[in-house]
Amino acid sequence: MARIIAGVASSHVPAIGAAIDNKQTEEPYWKRVFSGFEKSKEWMANAKPDVAIVVYNDHASAFSVEIVPTFALGCAAEFPPADEGWGPRPVPVVQGHPELAAHIAQSVILDEFDLTIVNKMEVDHGLTVPMNLLFGSPKQWPCPVIPLAVNVVLYPPPTAHRCYMLGKAIRRAVESYPQDLRVVIFGTGGMSHQISGPRAGLINSKFDKAFLDNLTKDPKKLTRIPHLEFMREAGAEGIEMVMWLIMRGALDDDIEEVYRFYTVPASNTAVGHIILENKRAAAKGKKSAAGKKPVAGKHKRAAARANHRNVRRGKR
Ligand SMILES: [Fe+2]
Repeated sequence: MARIIAGVASSHVPAIGAAIDNKQTEEPYWKRVFSGFEKSKEWMANAKPDVAIVVYNDHASAFSVEIVPTFALGCAAEFPPADEGWGPRPVPVVQGHPELAAHIAQSVILDEFDLTIVNKMEVDHGLTVPMNLLFGSPKQWPCPVIPLAVNVVLYPPPTAHRCYMLGKAIRRAVESYPQDLRVVIFGTGGMSHQISGPRAGLINSKFDKAFLDNLTKDPKKLTRIPHLEFMREAGAEGIEMVMWLIMRGALDDDIEEVYRFYTVPASNTAVGHIILENKRAAAKGKKSAAGKKPVAGKHKRAAARANHRNVRRGKR
């Protein structure tokens, strides 16, 4: 049986992709951002998922305003990087997993979540930036990816609760797939930011940190946040955070937070990142959910926890 071993959430700021592409990651401004993902790349290298489901939003790259699906599942064999106005990013073509994607579509749609099935789609920074942050910049991405594009661009986006429940349906779908696959699910976007209008540049770290806290401890509380509250507290584009709740819904109720990173700003956006492991998977065989081997060894794991505590106490 396939199973979801962990969830990862990460902002997908386009300027992060530009910094990678323009080889600016060592510049002091950007080093502060990228250093927060070093442990995450180590975690992912140990996790070695067989498949990643990446929940993201398209920024008018694959879909124009003529057609805006609320939930669009990528069922193709591959997804080329989109041209977002500067040519396609120099990242590998994303390989899909059509069999699992078709299974998820069937399971989730018959579970009364009406997904749009997409058999041809280019993917923009919303997907490729988190891939870079967690997988680095390899010649080929290390695992197949199933993109799930969510409309958070044109009103009305789905509610936080709808997203959370979709995550649960995706989990049921994955767990009914007969092949033994280890799946990591990504939620991307956020955190607080507004890119235009009188409140452009808005950052609300208090809201963001409470969101991260509750993502771990009390996600149901987050499912009750209405759109207006997201917009008021986290800016117009802060609504992207509903996508994190698809990831969270696909996990156990009781999970282990293994890593967290938060920094302000990157471009005009707060960057948030968290890794959550299913305890049940972690307990199985006393191995970490992150891997066939322990995550990074007992000591590194303890260090990561200490680091995480320090991040939360503002010591980094
Ligand atoms: Fe975005």
